[in-house]
Amino acid sequence: RDRQPIIAIDGPAGAGKSTVARQVATKLGLVYLDTGAMYRAVTWLVLQQSIAIDDECAIAELANQCKIELTPSQDLQSPVRVWIDDTDVTQAIRTIEVTSQVSAIAAQGAVRQALVKQQQSWGKRGGLVAEGRDIGTHVFPDAEVKIFLTASVGERARRRQQDFKKQGQPEVNLEQLEKDIAERDWKDSTRKVSPLKKAADAIELQTDGLSVSDVASQIVDYYQQRLSQW
Ligand code: CDP
Ligand code: CDP
Repeated sequence: RDRQPIIAIDGPAGAGKSTVARQVATKLGLVYLDTGAMYRAVTWLVLQQSIAIDDECAIAELANQCKIELTPSQDLQSPVRVWIDDTDVTQAIRTIEVTSQVSAIAAQGAVRQALVKQQQSWGKRGGLVAEGRDIGTHVFPDAEVKIFLTASVGERARRRQQDFKKQGQPEVNLEQLEKDIAERDWKDSTRKVSPLKKAADAIELQTDGLSVSDVASQIVDYYQQRLSQW
């Protein structure tokens, strides 16, 4: 093989992709790649520059010219720091404003083309756990291990509510969270360009009632089983 293995993890919002991918990467000594953070960073820049969400030309130019960096950090809350054009946007990309606009921007073909190109160049040598919506179907179609993580909308909304609580943020209404999540799921899975979809050769893991470490060990076991077959 001309590169190290790649683990692709896809699934809807709140399925546990980032938390699980981080654990798996740590256990296996692989690099963790959060592709959602890249779409969020571009969205943050669009909002910051007051560009209209439907100005696809201006946004395409921005996506092609901006410099996105993901660097490891010691902070347990956010183990990866996210930078765009040398501005630290680690916290800023998680706001409700960014979350509510990111799917519209991620649906734009030119934006995806720019970010996927970057992801593929980072992944050339493999050795990573990449998570997002189109990793197994589009970014790394030849990934050795493909996982599609799911959970019910109710469970995913509860997880997000807990996240806000832990961060000391004001209580967020569960029904509102369910509505936001369902709307984002719908936008992400019905868009024309690389929609959220389980790859034909992905393993689907339904995670309702499972802990993060349960899910991570299942993936590590599966990876090791596959590794022994190569
Ligand atoms: O963490 P959460 O599930 O809320 O979202 P995320 O992974 O940070 O991704 C934010 C948004 O970026 C998603 O709702 C998608 O619209 C978009 N995205 C995408 O289109 N393709 C990816 N590979 C990753 C994210
Ligand atoms: O990246 P994605 O949006 O798919 O989900 P996440 O941000 O990794 O997970 C959302 C929250 O659910 C985190 O606080 C996880 O600790 C929690 N979670 C969980 O409680 N049980 C799981 N099996 C997976 C995640």
